[in-house]
Amino acid sequence: MNQTIVAPSLLASDFARIKEESEMLNASEADWFHLDVMDGVFVPNISFGLPIISAYRKHTDKILDVHLMIVEPDKYIGDFKKAGADVLTVHAEACPHLHRSVQRIKAEGMKAGVALNPHTPVSLLEDIIEDVDLVCLMSVNPGFGGQSFIERTYSKIEKLRQMIDSSSSTALIEIDGGVSLDNASKLVAAGANVLVAGSTVFKSENPTATISELKKA
Ligand code: DX5
Ligand code: ZN
Repeated sequence: MNQTIVAPSLLASDFARIKEESEMLNASEADWFHLDVMDGVFVPNISFGLPIISAYRKHTDKILDVHLMIVEPDKYIGDFKKAGADVLTVHAEACPHLHRSVQRIKAEGMKAGVALNPHTPVSLLEDIIEDVDLVCLMSVNPGFGGQSFIERTYSKIEKLRQMIDSSSSTALIEIDGGVSLDNASKLVAAGANVLVAGSTVFKSENPTATISELKKA
């Protein structure tokens, strides 16, 4: 089995210190930078947009994993590519023509991710699983960091793992929300490949050491 990919979520970081936080992640075992874009419409919160993605791009060569929690994401696919996104994830609930959205992301040269809210069944992806590079299972309702993990997620991971392994899909399973040092190993055992962690990393006394702990999961 490949090693767990650790993707700290910058939502929990200090935006006055983009350079310093990036340098800390660059020197750590973090694999990806997870960047949460929220529009105040798809989710009840506003975070940041394109200029912040570009700012992180200037400070790292690591993969920028951009999670769009916005309506009509198709309008901005080219803009996020220009800003420096490597992985672009859209929500299935925000895309009436999900297949087209995924194809557009790939046509721009990015990896295409699809995120599912906690209430959305993984079966929704049966006819598109071979086209996506990543499935992001939300283990909290999107919009805020620091929420508690929804236990139901484990059975969703197992179902999705089965769907992927019984097809020719190479999609990675990413878990986003409430990931902690207590549940990380169990998530990986259930079939997760990518762990997003905001508060667990940035609110810890030693973020670098916490990232190393998550990496062992
Ligand atoms: C929530 C975001 C998450 C968030 C995770 O809507 O998509 O990426 O930053 O934060 P924690 O790890 O604190 O739950
Ligand atoms: Zn996220």
